[in-house]
Amino acid sequence: MAKEVISRTLEYWKKDLKHVVHPYTNFQKFGEEGSVIYAQGKDHFIYDSDGNQYLDGIAGLWCVNVGHGNEEIADTMAQQSKKMAYYNTFEDAGSIPAAELGAKLSELCPGNLNHVFFSTGGSIANDIAIKIVHYYFNVLGKPNKKKILSRDLAYHGSTYLAHTLTGISSTHMAFDLPHDLIHYLSAPYSYRGQGNMTEEEFCDMLIREMEDAIKEIGADNIACFIAEPIMGAGGVIVPPKGYHKKTFDLCKANDILYISDEVVTAFGRLGHMVSSEDVFGIQPDMIVFAKGLSSGYVPLGATMISDQIYEVISQPKAENPYFSHGFTYSGHALCCEVGLKNIEILERLDFCSHVREWGPYFEEQLNTLTDLPIVGDVRGSHYMLCIENVADKLTKDPFAPEVAIAKRIYYHAKDLGLIIRPIGSLNVLSPPLTYDKDAIDRTVSIVRTSIERVMDDLVRESLWNK
Ligand SMILES: Cc1ncc(COP(=O)(O)O)c(C=O)c1O
Repeated sequence: MAKEVISRTLEYWKKDLKHVVHPYTNFQKFGEEGSVIYAQGKDHFIYDSDGNQYLDGIAGLWCVNVGHGNEEIADTMAQQSKKMAYYNTFEDAGSIPAAELGAKLSELCPGNLNHVFFSTGGSIANDIAIKIVHYYFNVLGKPNKKKILSRDLAYHGSTYLAHTLTGISSTHMAFDLPHDLIHYLSAPYSYRGQGNMTEEEFCDMLIREMEDAIKEIGADNIACFIAEPIMGAGGVIVPPKGYHKKTFDLCKANDILYISDEVVTAFGRLGHMVSSEDVFGIQPDMIVFAKGLSSGYVPLGATMISDQIYEVISQPKAENPYFSHGFTYSGHALCCEVGLKNIEILERLDFCSHVREWGPYFEEQLNTLTDLPIVGDVRGSHYMLCIENVADKLTKDPFAPEVAIAKRIYYHAKDLGLIIRPIGSLNVLSPPLTYDKDAIDRTVSIVRTSIERVMDDLVRESLWNK
């Protein structure tokens, strides 16, 4: 490696360490180690500023669905920037890309979700969904319908409101989140919650809990239920069969709006452009998109709204006739054009069929790791998978947090040329949809070697016995 490259890399590393406040970061550790600076990507490979190549097993952060370095998207960005990168979309202004993307998303969504409010990411798109739900019930003259049903381990984002919807309680510490707005139901976490119950009994128990909560809080006080089809950052939790349909029916029976947070599960990750209906058989009142909507090339979020909700919020009102809500970058022309191109690529290259073909193979191969003594569970679906590491497979006891088990596996994998995401005891895999058999095989082989190396390290450090 040329000297100049190394010295430049060190400069970036120093500037980053000194000036950039990173999201979800242990500042003490960051202060000691800083960050790896990533500089380039192509398809499912990513390169750091020293030129080291890694398989990107997490698609940036569950989002680079079409893969890195897509030239068509780059050209689209250049062309739209030259034409018109931005103009506002307030009231009597609009743009061609926003209109086209709105129509395309309405076509992709199930039911009558024919309206979209654009934003710049998943947290904001969820905020918007809740604001619209509250506005909707106020307009209908039901101002008490405010409470939100969410779930333990749900991840819905990091703005004040989206963080409050998030049910990962450890992340709430030292933030003053307004918790009286939310009721958290149990997560449909079979590995730790099902015990001796059958899948059906476990599902029934969760539904009974939701029924009881609705009775206790009162349907007249509940505005909506928000759920990820498969929980992502909370642990890649796949609900028991029939769970979504039953929670959806409960919502319908109680005049509770159903919001499906498809920030991760849409645009091919589960083998369908939108999964709520195609995979789980429901037609939500709202669907929230981000991440794969633009494959991460630009910040873009979308909150889809049903005809019924749109009719109510757009009714003429005597007092303030305005829907007083909006952002400078709602319907950003460049971002919407990228979203359109991204969807066109996903459809033209039929990434959904590719994921439906290779997803089951990925799941099967990753499942071979359950022969390792610390792999307690392998779960997920298609290109949204994880392994849960445990100290004891029989009791499912986790490792002590200070062992940082998943971080150790992540470090070894990185040394071997693969990025996987450590979250608590879990290692998550959510690669670009360009992942093929070769990438899957290399990934599973590197994860196996990494776990084996970690087990050796733990024995050597007297932290664990085989
Ligand atoms: C399901 C889900 N919803 C919302 C968000 C928040 O999206 P963003 O980070 O773009 O604000 C995320 C982010 O990981 C997510 O996984």
